[in-house]
Amino acid sequence: MKKGYCIVSGGVQPKLASDVAKALGAEIIATELKTFANGERYARLEDTVRNKDLFIFQSCGNSKEYTINDALMETLIIVDAARRASAKEISVVLPFMPYSRQDRKARTREPITAALVLNMLKQAGVHRIITLDLHSTQIQSAFPGPFENLSARSLLLKEVSKIVKEKEGEDFIVVAPDAGSVKNSSKFATELNLPLVFMPKSRDEKDPTKITRTKIAEDLNKKNCLIFDDMIDTGGTIISAAEGLKNAGAKKIIVCATHGLLSLNAAERLKNSDVDLVIATNSLPQQYNEEILGKKMKTISIAPLLTNTIKSVDSGDNIVDID
Ligand code: R5P
Repeated sequence: MKKGYCIVSGGVQPKLASDVAKALGAEIIATELKTFANGERYARLEDTVRNKDLFIFQSCGNSKEYTINDALMETLIIVDAARRASAKEISVVLPFMPYSRQDRKARTREPITAALVLNMLKQAGVHRIITLDLHSTQIQSAFPGPFENLSARSLLLKEVSKIVKEKEGEDFIVVAPDAGSVKNSSKFATELNLPLVFMPKSRDEKDPTKITRTKIAEDLNKKNCLIFDDMIDTGGTIISAAEGLKNAGAKKIIVCATHGLLSLNAAERLKNSDVDLVIATNSLPQQYNEEILGKKMKTISIAPLLTNTIKSVDSGDNIVDID
């Protein structure tokens, strides 16, 4: 039996959309995507979407072919095409919400770009947003429709618990690498029944990869450190934390983040850093990072999480992995 909804994919990470469509047994509506000579993007739905509920997938991060802005613009164009083609209800699945860190006026005359992006999505015709581990949850208020902020917590916990179990008898601690990560890290520490260490950070405004840290007072002799953060961007936060932890005597440094942006040459810098393992989801494409980091990287698929979420949205059931 045909489902009442279809999947559409933007061009950044079609494999994620097709994995979910396969698991759901849902139809994928193909798209014609291209870029004009002057850089403008184009998207056309290749089949009818009249009266259908659509889930439009896009991974909005830098990739070889797409800038984050190209990915966002392409999403808006696909939504516009779907609305004008009489789609019934349009949900966008943006596992990483672009501009989500620009969520407040920290200085006078600054924009709140996270709100601007959510407004643009609404104006284009989006009914529902499905995302993962939003940098700050309160930004949801800038979007007036249904907003499912999923959590990769249980996926990451499962992976980390396996490691802790494998190294039975060894000491582990959870490390919060900055003030913003304390709440999240302490939840992980509680769930893993491990102590929490907080490492304050201050970032150079001119060079974001430069981070200053105060020396850790504790002796971390032979302790394995689990660092939890919502995202790894330039890698500055975790590379500097790992260095401080190793200087304090730590054994292995394992980093878990929902979003592996790994901008600039973060993959190369992480490879040569004190970090022993990076665990991230495929909320953004990870092929390049996997190639560079090899055994130092483990990617966890969010396809099952998105599959269950779409099932729940369709059936009206409660969504479990929500933040
Ligand atoms: C900060 O508020 C975030 O939670 C991350 O710690 C930060 O965005 C990571 O950035 P980077 O990898 O560039 O240090």
